[in-house]
Amino acid sequence: MNVLVTGGAGYIGSHTVVELLEAGHQVIIVDDLSNAKVEVIGRIERITGKRPAFHQLDCGHKAGLRSVFQGDRVDAVIHFAGFKAVGESVKKPLQYYRNNLDSTLTLLEVMEEFGCKKLVFSSSATVYGPDNAHPYKESMPAIRSTSPYGWTKVMIERILTDYVTAHPEFCAVLLRYFNPIGAHDSGLLGDDPNGIPNNLMPYIARVAAGQLEKLTIFGGDYPTPDGTCLRDYLHVEDLAVGHLKALEYAGTHSGVEAVNLGTGNGISVLGLVHAFEKANGMALPYEIGPRRDGDLPAFWADASKAKELLGWEAVHTVDDMCRSAWKFAQMASK
Ligand code: WQD
Repeated sequence: MNVLVTGGAGYIGSHTVVELLEAGHQVIIVDDLSNAKVEVIGRIERITGKRPAFHQLDCGHKAGLRSVFQGDRVDAVIHFAGFKAVGESVKKPLQYYRNNLDSTLTLLEVMEEFGCKKLVFSSSATVYGPDNAHPYKESMPAIRSTSPYGWTKVMIERILTDYVTAHPEFCAVLLRYFNPIGAHDSGLLGDDPNGIPNNLMPYIARVAAGQLEKLTIFGGDYPTPDGTCLRDYLHVEDLAVGHLKALEYAGTHSGVEAVNLGTGNGISVLGLVHAFEKANGMALPYEIGPRRDGDLPAFWADASKAKELLGWEAVHTVDDMCRSAWKFAQMASK
């Protein structure tokens, strides 16, 4: 298929583009590079031997997006583009609502104009909010979140659900990610956020690389076995394969389906720190500090629907995640 990937130069997007190209699909990347580097396009080519088409463009720019659809037949879209920093979204809610919602509404209008009826959407476990018990199941209410970023995911899931009600021939697969970490085994692609990382693994990797002094673990007094928060960390390469499976599903189905992409296991912050130390033969400097606002003590996925509906399950180990993250950090710091 000809697949348009919005945000395809980003962390999860670029890993997904590699999987799509290696599966024989044609890929068109649309990315405004607000949180990605143009070098990623060349690295994708180095890995796969194929260069995806690339347009530096904000998805909310309707004329630009129309011209992409006029230039190439688009059979399906995987929509990653959006602002995604939880803390930043609390400080800048209007930018998050404007950017994340506008880009999606514009994308849907252009898809409709050109008769494109298959969409895989980058959603998040954050849509389960603070009230559901873990493990999270897709049948649970996904109607509130704890940050404007998370609310944009709730709202976009609503928009897509209502759109499919009005257009039953359309297929939307809402992929609810848990905590993607790790990097491509080539060391060429990985999580390389601008500035100081908000998320745990890129922060750990920069401490390991000596770029940051030490890790602060946000809270050691949670009601969990070791007092630190539990999360469902999954390898970004497994996550990328999940998108390929969702695309294949959308190619032969209609309707809207929410699907968790997680391992089904919870690992604590301290547990991940020690796994990183063991996998890479090092000691990480860290301290236990105060809790971070908005953090939930524990959540992980019930991953059974992904296996039943998409034939997908996570296969990489925590060791793989930690080794690949460190390999990428070492190459990125050269
Ligand atoms: C994981 C754990 C922190 C940094 C967020 C978004 C979610 C998704 C993934 C986009 C928590 C602890 C972290 C640090 C720490 N993003 N931590 N020290 O918050 O589970 O999920 O990112 O889709 O939507 O909500 O991930 O990696 O930020 O934190 O102790 O320097 O690591 O407190 O317990 P989170 P995270």
